[in-house]
Amino acid sequence: MTQIKIFDTTLRDGEQSPGVNLNQLEKLELAKQLERFGIDVMEAGFPASSQGDFDAVKKIAETVKNVSVTGLARAVKSDIDACWKALKNAQDPRLHVFIATSPIHMEYKLQKTPEEVIETAVEMVKYGKQFFDHVEWSAEDASRTDLDFLAKIVEKVIDAGATVINLPDTVGYTMPREYGAMFRYMKENVPNIDKADLSCHCHDDLGMALANSLAAVENGATQVEGTINGIGERAGNASLEELAVALKIRNDYYPYHTNLVLNEIKRTSDMVSKFTGMTIPGNKAVVGRNAFAHESGIHQDGVLKNAETYEIITPELVGVHSNNLVLGKHSGRHAFTDKIKQLGYQLSEDKLKEAFKAFKLLTDRKKEVTDDDLFAILTDIQTDTSNVKRYMLEDFKVQYGSSEKPSATVTLTTPDDEKVKDTKTGQGSVEALYNTLDELIKEETHLTDFQLNSIGQGRDALAEVHVSLTVDGETVSGRGSAQDVLEAAVQAYLNGVNRAIYQKKAV
Ligand code: KIV
Ligand code: ZN
Repeated sequence: MTQIKIFDTTLRDGEQSPGVNLNQLEKLELAKQLERFGIDVMEAGFPASSQGDFDAVKKIAETVKNVSVTGLARAVKSDIDACWKALKNAQDPRLHVFIATSPIHMEYKLQKTPEEVIETAVEMVKYGKQFFDHVEWSAEDASRTDLDFLAKIVEKVIDAGATVINLPDTVGYTMPREYGAMFRYMKENVPNIDKADLSCHCHDDLGMALANSLAAVENGATQVEGTINGIGERAGNASLEELAVALKIRNDYYPYHTNLVLNEIKRTSDMVSKFTGMTIPGNKAVVGRNAFAHESGIHQDGVLKNAETYEIITPELVGVHSNNLVLGKHSGRHAFTDKIKQLGYQLSEDKLKEAFKAFKLLTDRKKEVTDDDLFAILTDIQTDTSNVKRYMLEDFKVQYGSSEKPSATVTLTTPDDEKVKDTKTGQGSVEALYNTLDELIKEETHLTDFQLNSIGQGRDALAEVHVSLTVDGETVSGRGSAQDVLEAAVQAYLNGVNRAIYQKKAV
């Protein structure tokens, strides 16, 4: 069976999703989880785009060991230099350099003739090869490129040293048969094509990203690029968990295998959703809450008689365990430590103490602590930016009655270690809290989005709030989880403001 290499771009194309901005600690945690998931190549970011991106790519490159780490570069020397600086300590570094090849991009965006584009592409691949053994070259907007021109430039960049040729459907325009035919055309018309891996990269504007990726594989692509939960620019990228499960379940049809560890899907997907604030729709294939729920009586009857009547994927295959009750009030430190090791976390002694304290606090309020709860505690602790001065919640009270205007009193410690307190009203409890916070927070803050979800099920499930904010003009997201909805709302708001402060310090 042919191996299909998996190139994950959650941390680059995925991070380009509107409203998403991950900090370095979150990127690092995600990178470790992606490594556990078994991807082959990780696009950790776009080092030339900002100091924050550069630092994150460098840190990831120095941390993960079993994955080839890459960074994106435009076809300019300074971008390639930034990539090399960020990636040179990686176990297996690679460069990903791109230039647009479609008539519309060449004429209007690049303002270059086709011959100039070929010249630049070849020159930049050669430049990159001075540093990197592996160079992936992408023809941006390949699916709207003239096939003969594409074949010509591909041949030249392979001669220049490119080891992977990626042909993206940048604007999500192509159809499966058409996209597959483009790969076949390259296989049949580029004389040196066997010297490079062919890679596909699909966007989902017309809902075709996964179908197009599979069509590419059927026609010679040996690498698929995509993201977890399909996040990415506009409508997103091909969803890697869907690809992985499709290849596994339809192994009779597709003679290919990947190195992915399928039972890490749920955790990887949850982490991406939590960090990005992009909630997974209930009906999303493979990872949606309803993906394994059988609602109609006829289906339930069938499943009870033989699960395979209506169930083609078992929840266990993708790491969903219905019985994930793990620890409770009487669980000690030993059981707790064992469990977090099982979950794949490695914590320093200090973080372990902190996590155990948070776990014990939770068991005071919640009888059954599930994997989902532990996951929330552990990811919060691993991505905590508490070494940076920040706003901290000391106390809050909300007065609410259906016939009176809600008011909120909040006490905070500011980044300058001052205790401040105020009371304000609002149309609802959350607005009253946020109006009070705005009074106490020095930065100019506006709320642009608010989402509330529960972690797990049941009356005592933790509440999780995601907010989008602008803080002094910068767009940030924030999240908070707590037993109480209002507390989660306050924590999310403060988390967003503190992230803006952290980001400013990191630049
Ligand atoms: O969609 C695209 O074309 C890209 C390239 C930069 C590879 O993301
Ligand atoms: Zn893309």
